[in-house]
Amino acid sequence: MTISPDAEPRWQELNQLLLAASDAYYGGTEPIISDAEYDERLRELAELEDRHPELRLLGSATTRVAYARVTEFAPVTHRQRMLSLDNVFDEEELDEWLARVPAERYLCELKIDGLAVNLTYLDGRLAVAATRGDGRVGEDVTGNVATIDGIPHRLRGTNVPAVLEVRGEVFFPKQAFAELNEALVVAGQHPFANPRNAAAGSLRQKDPRITAARPLRMIVHGIGTHDGLELTSQSQSYDALASFGLPVSSHTKVVGSAAAARDYVTYHGEHRHDAEHEIDGVVIKVDDLVSQRRLGSTSRAPRWAIAYKYPPEEVHTRLLDIRVGVGRTGRVTPFAAMDPVLVAGSTVAMATLHNAHEVVRKGVRIGDTVVLRKAGDVIPEIVAPVVALRDDSERDFVMATHCPSCGTALAQQKEGDKDLRCPNARSCPSQLRERLYSLAARGAFDIEALGAVGARDLLESGLLTDESGLFALTEDDLARSSIYASRSGGVTANGAKLLENLAAAIQQPLWRVLVALSIRHVGPTAARALASRFGSMDAIRAASVTELADTEGVGQVIAQSLKEWFEVDWHVNIVEAWAAAGVRMADGAAQERSEAQPTASLQGLTVVVTGSLEGFTRDGAKEAIVSRGGKAAGSVSRKTDYVVVGENAGSKAVKAEELGLPILDEADFLRLLEQGPAGVSGGEEGAGPGSPAGE
Ligand code: IVH
Repeated sequence: MTISPDAEPRWQELNQLLLAASDAYYGGTEPIISDAEYDERLRELAELEDRHPELRLLGSATTRVAYARVTEFAPVTHRQRMLSLDNVFDEEELDEWLARVPAERYLCELKIDGLAVNLTYLDGRLAVAATRGDGRVGEDVTGNVATIDGIPHRLRGTNVPAVLEVRGEVFFPKQAFAELNEALVVAGQHPFANPRNAAAGSLRQKDPRITAARPLRMIVHGIGTHDGLELTSQSQSYDALASFGLPVSSHTKVVGSAAAARDYVTYHGEHRHDAEHEIDGVVIKVDDLVSQRRLGSTSRAPRWAIAYKYPPEEVHTRLLDIRVGVGRTGRVTPFAAMDPVLVAGSTVAMATLHNAHEVVRKGVRIGDTVVLRKAGDVIPEIVAPVVALRDDSERDFVMATHCPSCGTALAQQKEGDKDLRCPNARSCPSQLRERLYSLAARGAFDIEALGAVGARDLLESGLLTDESGLFALTEDDLARSSIYASRSGGVTANGAKLLENLAAAIQQPLWRVLVALSIRHVGPTAARALASRFGSMDAIRAASVTELADTEGVGQVIAQSLKEWFEVDWHVNIVEAWAAAGVRMADGAAQERSEAQPTASLQGLTVVVTGSLEGFTRDGAKEAIVSRGGKAAGSVSRKTDYVVVGENAGSKAVKAEELGLPILDEADFLRLLEQGPAGVSGGEEGAGPGSPAGE
């Protein structure tokens, strides 16, 4: 964009005047223009920018009203102390408080996760803005606060009191916070751990221009000294503050009973992420000011208000190490090993970091204290390091150049890929183990007696060199393993079960055999489509890319992947060895029918799928639900029976957790489809690979 040559000189003149005027105003020196002239010039500047928006890029006084230069944060003594709040943490404690503090009306509000600030207006003009500090004395952040959108420099209305202290929370809107963190990382700086820290860091900038560039907001939730303002209730004070042009919350509610206050707590517990800012609870206040005065305060907090804190969704823990895992298709994934910590209901010690770029993007170093949360309240995720807690003992993660399992040099699949892969698919122990383990999953051959430990054992004992020999295993073989062999020379009960499972598995339909081969991109949906169109492994192998891609639910990427897979000798050997051991490589007519017409296993059930699943497209998952008599809903409610959570699931997963709905992973989902609710009840373990490197 080019800057308009005609308009620029006037713009510069106005802008400099306005910036100097606000510097003088907030810097405490003599005003250089009157307030009226200031407003007049500001309007002219704004009109100029409406016609030439590119001028705003230069750093305009219209986006930033005041640029007071602060070299240090001077102490400010609040006229009235800024109190804190007492907390309750569950319904019982809340009930006790409600019983102890009966009231005709309670004012219910969100507890904004931000930074407390006191604004002092003298004769309607913003004179000082200060942080809470210790409650008596805070820091002067006037210049910075004056740059926040929505905070009036001058109050509106006629009945503005001579002195007015307004308390509220400065916060970072959630979306803006995410964008700021990304921008900081791109600029090589550290991201903030949460919006609260971002708000605090932005307010304590020495140069208000930096604060001005941050899209902070404020919501006011209290009043201190208010000379000349008659008030009878807290809610009425909010109406007055709103009439002065101050930003009040749209989520507050006056209720007439303790039960209704409880409902407010419950409702916002279920809608925790709906507001434009983070909340860490709700605040319940006695609305009537006479009652407030009678109840009084302790040295710390008022007796007429209580904060109900929701359980934290973010915790701190120590990042002990960053290791790399190798998945069944060779993808090499860094993952975090942490001090085990309880977060959103379960203990977490590992979290995937996806790839080396992600480690850099998050700015984490080994040894850091990190902020951990559950993405969508399900998948553990490291948010950011707590930089303030560093002591120089931390070290950078260096991505492996060679496979940690087999030592082969890692490579990108194609130029520009973020993922690195171990190309040694044939004999990399990790890949072999993961492939063997996942072919036994319920969505593939369903070999219950073959778990992660069994897969490792069969490979390490040399009984298998890859998956080709699996169905040829005999009792004598297992008697030579570590975990399937009994002391008496035969096999254990689990060994016998493995042989039984293998004998049953060879009868599995073709689509499951396809899934079991770990061909990239070939999940259950594509496998079913291929099996039903081509009917046999030979026909699939013989088909051209065009024919394959032409199959409903398959497409070019899968077709290409299949073609390339069949071009590798040892892949073909697996198929041939399995066929020789009796694995069915074609579907019979009866089989086809029963596979093609799923039972109505989901009759009357509503299922929501959120995030991406490996084996289903969005429509494929819906179709799978609907074809079994279920309803595939788009949003989560109390009426939802199951929520299937895939990768990068968002707010729906959060809501599901909050409503206490059954949450299924992809393996559970497959069982649900196949067996109906019986397949997912009883708290069985999921069937998918459990390591953080699982793909
Ligand atoms: S009222 C005298 N209302 O939470 C009562 N505080 O943990 C003072 N906060 O220091 C507080 N949202 O900074 C009140 N709706 C709300 C609030 C709120 C956030 C902050 C406030 C307070 C802290 C206590």
